[in-house]
Amino acid sequence: MSDEKQSIPVEETKNAIRISNVTKVYGATIALAGVSFEVKQGEIFGLLGPNGAGKTTSIRILKGMINPTSGEAFILVKRISDDPNWAKEHTGYLPEEGSLIGRLTPLELSEFIGGLFGVSAANSRNRSIELFRMFELYEKKDELVEKLSRGMKQKLSIICSLIHDPDILLMDEPLASLDPSAAKMVKDFIKYLSREKEKTIIISSHRLSLVEDVCDRVAIIHQGAIIAEGTPKSIMQETNTNSLEDAYLAVIPGYKSPVITSEGTIVETAAENNNLEVSEQSELKTDESLN
Ligand SMILES: Nc1ncnc2c1ncn2[C@@H]1O[C@H](COP(=O)(O)OP(=O)(O)OP(=O)(O)O)[C@@H](O)[C@H]1O
Ligand SMILES: [Mg+2]
Repeated sequence: MSDEKQSIPVEETKNAIRISNVTKVYGATIALAGVSFEVKQGEIFGLLGPNGAGKTTSIRILKGMINPTSGEAFILVKRISDDPNWAKEHTGYLPEEGSLIGRLTPLELSEFIGGLFGVSAANSRNRSIELFRMFELYEKKDELVEKLSRGMKQKLSIICSLIHDPDILLMDEPLASLDPSAAKMVKDFIKYLSREKEKTIIISSHRLSLVEDVCDRVAIIHQGAIIAEGTPKSIMQETNTNSLEDAYLAVIPGYKSPVITSEGTIVETAAENNNLEVSEQSELKTDESLN
């Protein structure tokens, strides 16, 4: 694995993913309110935002699992609504909540999932064994999935999302429950898939250090609208901050830092951030995109 990014001139790269003015309404809830973004082939794109912002909804639309209420979404050259199976075949999906079949073993499960995507049993087996070794899950390959620890299940979910060698990976909280060394391995592997294999990867995560470290570009979603988009560096520059965490807190409206007494009780909250003043001077999208 190499951290060296192979530079691809922007004009020579293609969009692997395009979402255009997408809305998603669930009853009275507006989960997405006109979201647009593009991800180039080989890019790692981060989706950030508070709980309920619309990140998982965006990912599920790209996987072809749910339809947008309006707007269009494309995977490679195809509009997803024209052929949801195309989106399913060309994407690997790591759900935020695992949905593994507990009564199978990891090896059986990965072969089963490979079969769903038309991968032969032999190829599924070879690929999963390679991945089990990489993820230090080889010893558990013949145990029942339900007996695996939480982090092991997360590793298995990642393996299952990769088994058909998709062009595009949609990863909802990829590092959830992983120990520090497994998390580092997955981070390096994500970089490798982008840089050496030209995979296009969307990561939704609350781990801002992960996103700052691996993502080429990020979008911050708030209440179903993108309020900031750019490289982690450009967002930090525009908010005059030194970390993506500080930049995030600067653009998310309403963050209040707790004020804690010497006895350890929270007595009040400090004044709201006035971050939007910062973003008004910048190219960050703010109030307008929230309306
Ligand atoms: N199946 C559903 N039915 C009704 N409302 C839904 C459904 N799925 C999501 N929502 C609502 O849509 C909004 C966006 O949810 P979403 O899961 O996309 O958020 P998220 O950004 O992934 O949040 P988190 O960081 O907590 O994972 C929320 O208000 C949520 O309650
Ligand atoms: Mg989510």
